[in-house]
Amino acid sequence: MKRHTLHLKAPDNWVNDPNGFIYYKGYYHLFYQYFPYGPRWGTMHWGHAVSRDLVTWEHKGLALYPTTRADQNGCFSGSAIEQDGKLYLVYTGVRYEVVNPDDPHTCLDEQFESAQLMISSEDGFRFDNEHGKEVIIPPVTDPAIGDRTHTRDPKIWRGKDAWYLVLGSTMGEKYGEVLFYRSDDLHTWTYVDKAWKGPEYGWMWECPDYFPTEGGDVLLLSAMGLLKNGEKEKNQSICFPVTFDEETCSLDIPDQYQYLDYGLDLYAPQTALDKDGRRTMVAWVRMPRVTEEGWIGMFCSPRVVEVKDGHVFFRMHPNIRKAFSKAVYDIKDVSDDGYMASFELEDGETVTIGGYVIRRTGDRIVTDRSNVYPAFEGAHLVSETPDISRGTDGSFHLEVLVDSNLIETYVNDGEYVISNAVYDLGNEIQYDGDKKIRLYTTSER
Ligand code: FRU
Repeated sequence: MKRHTLHLKAPDNWVNDPNGFIYYKGYYHLFYQYFPYGPRWGTMHWGHAVSRDLVTWEHKGLALYPTTRADQNGCFSGSAIEQDGKLYLVYTGVRYEVVNPDDPHTCLDEQFESAQLMISSEDGFRFDNEHGKEVIIPPVTDPAIGDRTHTRDPKIWRGKDAWYLVLGSTMGEKYGEVLFYRSDDLHTWTYVDKAWKGPEYGWMWECPDYFPTEGGDVLLLSAMGLLKNGEKEKNQSICFPVTFDEETCSLDIPDQYQYLDYGLDLYAPQTALDKDGRRTMVAWVRMPRVTEEGWIGMFCSPRVVEVKDGHVFFRMHPNIRKAFSKAVYDIKDVSDDGYMASFELEDGETVTIGGYVIRRTGDRIVTDRSNVYPAFEGAHLVSETPDISRGTDGSFHLEVLVDSNLIETYVNDGEYVISNAVYDLGNEIQYDGDKKIRLYTTSER
């Protein structure tokens, strides 16, 4: 199957987290963790892609790379804001204290320290890596606050009267926590307060994102060691409806969380406001194996985050639905972007897309990728949603975005989403009876 363009993929080699996601001067900018020398994780750079509409992306090469003592071993994840017409990126600089003698791109026994840096740009495309970097928060030295090694991934936002940022950290590698800082001028930052839940929520919280929505505030985080079940990725992104007080930076996190996505392949999500003010999320799709073309890592389709009655919805972004609106009757007529299959599922019914099975069992949607995923010890093959309960008249409406390496199943307008990486997907759809499957693709562009 040809490589579809519906999802943004690594240009080559390796990508992980989305970074610096922002709509700025007419473009959506999506930076990402990038290792340019091979299809594996190593010394982190920031790659850069831009889009006019969140649908079609263009890779722009490298934005950030190690040039200072503080980021000599990697420009880790971070975020973006606009101020006075300039684009500011904040990110984590990593400095190894002991380099792995067998591999200069990794560190020995986690002996490294992390600082938070800032760099700006007049146009969003050019960054002065040689002279433009500033350390805004040095490595944390007070163990009562956070960890000198594992404190990273600043997410920055403009509050009512000041700038704020949240960092992921760990309390002595026992449980994850988030640290809140405030600044009046973007350069001087003061630690204000922190929040945590305890060891059963993972030992380290990465890539936190806090934001308000009309239906309530949301906290996203990527919890390391959340799952103890060896069959699945143990690091998982989760979300909570929360309440946050800007004045004191106190965050109230409930006990109950949702997964970001019930396929358990997504990680390190980041949100930004789209052009029209919608809170829009993208996340890294973890892949187990380098593709035949030699790249590994991609991003999910952008999703609009909304909260209703304490539930966090991840809805298909309207630009994606609009782009995939050309009806086709045969799968062979779909464009290079891939396609959307839209259908209803009754209890007990199954639809199989190129070998990827989507089934309704009672009030749940279950997917099985056994036929389209490399077999390896512990591979996570079967995924399922919790019971679908909200706002339905009993019918389950599925919108499935199909790309050669990722299938995203949106259930009932984003009440839950199951996304799974796939390989060697077939080119046919099978189902029993006279089910109506509507197929949509993009128009020629
Ligand atoms: C999450 C993460 C971040 C870190 C980055 C390094 O996947 O571990 O915490 O900044 O990846 O590439």
